[in-house]
Amino acid sequence: MEVLVQFGLPAEARADWLLLPVWEDDRLDAVAAALDGRLGGALGRLKQRGDLTGKANELIPVLGATGIAAERLLLVGLGKREGADKTRLVDAAAAAARHVTGKQRGSVAFVLPPNYPGLDGQELAAAVVVGLSQGSYGPGIRKSEPIRFMPESFVLVAPPSIAEVDIREGGRRGEIEAEAVRLTRELVNLPPCELYPETFAAQASEAANSAGVVCEVFDEKRIEAERMGALLAVARGSERPPRVVVLRYQHGGGDRTLGLVGKGVTFDSGGLSLKPSEHMIDMKCDMAGAATVLAAVQAIARLQVPVNILGVLALVENLPSGKSMKLGDVLRTRSGKTIEVLNTDAEGRLILADALSYAVDQKVDHLVDLATLTGACVVALGTEVAGLMGNNDAWCEQVLQAARRAGERAWQLPMYSLYDEMIKSSIADMKNTGGSRYGGAITAAKLLQQFVGEVPWAHLDIAGPAWAERESATRDAGGTGCFVRTLVELARAYGQ
Ligand code: BES
Ligand code: MN
Ligand code: ZN
Repeated sequence: MEVLVQFGLPAEARADWLLLPVWEDDRLDAVAAALDGRLGGALGRLKQRGDLTGKANELIPVLGATGIAAERLLLVGLGKREGADKTRLVDAAAAAARHVTGKQRGSVAFVLPPNYPGLDGQELAAAVVVGLSQGSYGPGIRKSEPIRFMPESFVLVAPPSIAEVDIREGGRRGEIEAEAVRLTRELVNLPPCELYPETFAAQASEAANSAGVVCEVFDEKRIEAERMGALLAVARGSERPPRVVVLRYQHGGGDRTLGLVGKGVTFDSGGLSLKPSEHMIDMKCDMAGAATVLAAVQAIARLQVPVNILGVLALVENLPSGKSMKLGDVLRTRSGKTIEVLNTDAEGRLILADALSYAVDQKVDHLVDLATLTGACVVALGTEVAGLMGNNDAWCEQVLQAARRAGERAWQLPMYSLYDEMIKSSIADMKNTGGSRYGGAITAAKLLQQFVGEVPWAHLDIAGPAWAERESATRDAGGTGCFVRTLVELARAYGQ
């Protein structure tokens, strides 16, 4: 995919498809009205007859239109002007792109709406590119006959009111962010027979190298030398050895370092606490946190954000076997603290305990971890919203603000000390379940908190939003690539 910019009238834009956003308003706006002049009033008639309303994500194809340079025209609804935000624009671009990428087409042009509320020229161009890319990628990657096609180029048709440099810069930023989101979705969609700790680590080192990020891969020997006893205990059930990937991007003026840690369980069967098939079906997605961290670090490096980042990916498979950890086992973590295992399906917190303690010892100043950690978080917030928990409200607020700027949804859950009681163990320093189904997202976070010391830390439980069970108007089913762009926004603010 390539992003091109064209100035001039939308009617003159050459493309296989011209996508024209339309507000839900009584009248056509100036851009649509000008195009309508060339179309002999076709849009006005559609509007009059009620066929064109401009409601959010409404799609009206106008095939065989004459008078314009593009082969085909698609009208896409933006909804009402009031309340319009970045998410609305990303969604509209994505819905339109889904409509036109079911067949192989060379170029897709999108008319940038002038004066879009709350977005400057750069943000406008970036949001459109991110949306177009989101709608052009789908998980039919193993089909002999593909069902979705990435166009060769996206053309941004720009109004003269926005400076060319802003559109070019925004388009480039959007392209880098969109490619990172796509990398995450691709990794999450890969079948677990192909993506396991060793192959994930290989892909990580390739992605890192191409972006100028220093990448170190710990094999099982090195992981043992690091005394990551909890991560090794989870990995032991599998024939596939674990890997820990450490990413270093150093480009900051100051000496502060932001640590990003990701859960990378390439398949979560539950281990001896085996999941029933209905719950195991999608568990290739349990490495979404690690994929998000990898893609975000890659994007941050390609964007040359002036910041220092340490990324840590904890990669294991959770399987039952004669070597699996057992219920009642007590694990010695890297930090020396001990954990009693009462459910082998609560494996994410075990591997993250060791990964977080490693990051803390590398002297990070702030931490964020991302993990498909608990079904309880999905019960609490649904499938579209991530849970945010942490040990420092100011830092949590910065993460929430980054999510808001990226147009992604996270909601903070409380970390009252009363939850600490729920993970007390009679024989070890803590146990790996809360002992109750209730409050499960928070008791998981409480265990993580034991391993971050005094470092301001925020934990994003993305078990809901990382995976879409069904397709929607704006995205194919499968991995979503959520929170990649939030991490990029966070890094931008961190580097200021
Ligand atoms: N990977 C799962 C959580 C999950 C659930 C992710 C649904 C995505 C969608 C995690 O390892 C897990 O199994 N958690 C258990 C914890 C319980 C045993 C304390 C859960 O949520 O049931
Ligand atoms: Mn599990
Ligand atoms: Zn898991």
